Amino acid sequence: MNKKKLSRIDLQKMKTEGKPVAWITAYDFPNAQFAEAAGTDMILVGDSLGMCVYGYSGTVPVTMEQCIVHCEAVRRGAPNTFIIGDMPFLSYQVSVSEAVYNAGRFHKEAGMDAIKLEGGHRVCEQIRAIADGGMLVMGHIGLTPQSTGQLGGFKAQGRTADTARNVIEDARAIENAGAFALLVEAVPPEVCKIIRDTLRIPVYSIGAGVEADGQLMICSDVLGQFQAFTPKFVKKYENLADKSTKAFETYFAEVRNKSFPAEEHTYKMVDGELDKLRQLLNK
Ligand code: KIV
Repeated sequence: MNKKKLSRIDLQKMKTEGKPVAWITAYDFPNAQFAEAAGTDMILVGDSLGMCVYGYSGTVPVTMEQCIVHCEAVRRGAPNTFIIGDMPFLSYQVSVSEAVYNAGRFHKEAGMDAIKLEGGHRVCEQIRAIADGGMLVMGHIGLTPQSTGQLGGFKAQGRTADTARNVIEDARAIENAGAFALLVEAVPPEVCKIIRDTLRIPVYSIGAGVEADGQLMICSDVLGQFQAFTPKFVKKYENLADKSTKAFETYFAEVRNKSFPAEEHTYKMVDGELDKLRQLLNK
């Protein structure tokens, strides 16, 4: 059954009605299909694909071309879902015009409904220009993985009064710049609650507690596929890493002991054709 794709207006209404938005990242066609079938409200094609799909140690190496290819696959897998493309490092920092151009590529080439970019005050000019271009922009503050060099690693943010005030000021600036929503990552729940209660636009959490307008998780964490590290805020709902390894082990063992392929995995010749073949080969 085709579900109705949510719009920015639906998302805003869900905030007003206190209905949490449940959403997840996806990077490929199958997981996009599974997420849509499971009833996700939105999908983020995160630049976390650099770590979850390509095995980089962070998101900085991810390119526009990689993002576009993965967004296209996710769009094919989830045609009826509101999908957000994540702008990779250096696609919006260099200049405002490059930011608008690259945001446009997500819409034009990959059919994204919105884009997300990281940062507070320092990216407000870009947010304003992209929004002025008629596109939907989601902000992303707190732990911003593209700046882990500056942050000193994948570390929670806003844990002191001064740093929490900076995060809250960034949130206000992003709303004023014209973002339609905000993602807050790895800050204490009290700080996220202040932001959620202060801003008119929806405020979503990843690792920022339950007092938000919705929750995002990384699909590779939910499925238990990502092995490099497990942030404190992650809950694994499956252990596909173990299940996949076990399935591969069983397959390799069956090949080696010749129990695979069995008869049911093979094609039969058309009746009588084997005899004909033997005669042909004996001529
Ligand atoms: O790339 C991503 O998946 C993200 C999340 C970490 C929020 O930006």
